[in-house]
Amino acid sequence: MVESKVERKGSSTAGYTCFSRACATREKDERFRGPDHLAEIFMPPFARVLLNVPFLRKWCMHRMFPTGIHEYVLARTRVFDEVFVDALERGFSQIVLLGSGMDTRAFRFQEKNRGATIFDLDIYTTQHYKREVLDRKKIATPGGLVFVPINFNKQCLADVLAQAGYRDGQETLFLWEGVTMYLDAGAVDGTLAFIRNSAAEGSIVVFDYVRASVLRCENSLYGEKAIRGTVARAEEDWVFGIEDGAIEGFLAEHDFKMLSHHTPSDLEIAYLMAEDGTKLGRINETHCIVIAGI
Ligand SMILES: C[S@@+](CC[C@H](N)C(=O)[O-])C[C@H]1O[C@@H](n2cnc3c(N)ncnc32)[C@H](O)[C@@H]1O
Repeated sequence: MVESKVERKGSSTAGYTCFSRACATREKDERFRGPDHLAEIFMPPFARVLLNVPFLRKWCMHRMFPTGIHEYVLARTRVFDEVFVDALERGFSQIVLLGSGMDTRAFRFQEKNRGATIFDLDIYTTQHYKREVLDRKKIATPGGLVFVPINFNKQCLADVLAQAGYRDGQETLFLWEGVTMYLDAGAVDGTLAFIRNSAAEGSIVVFDYVRASVLRCENSLYGEKAIRGTVARAEEDWVFGIEDGAIEGFLAEHDFKMLSHHTPSDLEIAYLMAEDGTKLGRINETHCIVIAGI
């Protein structure tokens, strides 16, 4: 089997979204300022220069995240943060980060953790970089956080998680942020089947997906062409999508119930619009976010 780019070098898209989150922390308007103050530690020195010099940051964001990608990542971070904190507050015993990249939630919300085990799963290359930076910055691993290297295409999620201490039958939250589009339909089905069969009633999975028309290159959505270009440059192809209007049926087929669904316009209203009507910007229309329960 040919080695994929993430197997060889780690994920560039994990770096891009992390850079977007770092830039969001520099937002002038505090109502829209991003919450991920740790994101910047993962930036290489040249990217830190770009981050800290306002005109360079603006130029870079315009080139890397044209037409609403940055705005989407900002809104997505907020949705996933909210679900994560809610699970900690409700006393979920396990949280599984599937394809975590530079996810920092276990660190940012550690004071809210009352005993949950957090499994941070990613491919070895990406995870090795993250751990190496955390070590170099002398950032201690919070209690309950377990790093689990995995190749979703080559290893069995159930076996790898069981070896890491995951327990079946527990109330568990699964965060699957920015990942489904990179997996084939079999891997998506397999992951949902694992979650459905292993986690207790009341468990939750939150994930985002690409609208299927994007994979067909219909170019009918705001921001579609630009984000496809970004992904192609990263050599991390999108292969999975869901048709508009099909999400509830898709979840029912996998025996999940839909708890909430966020279209790009829902996200704009909820996360990018202030009470006085000021809007930070427009979100690219290629993705939706869904929260589903067992
Ligand atoms: C777009 S990034 C999203 C990262 C993070 N969840 C975020 O939102 O910033 C996709 C992640 O999936 C991981 N990934 C891609 N293919 C994988 C595979 N075959 N096995 C394990 N992880 C993989 C990448 O390393 C990367 O961290």
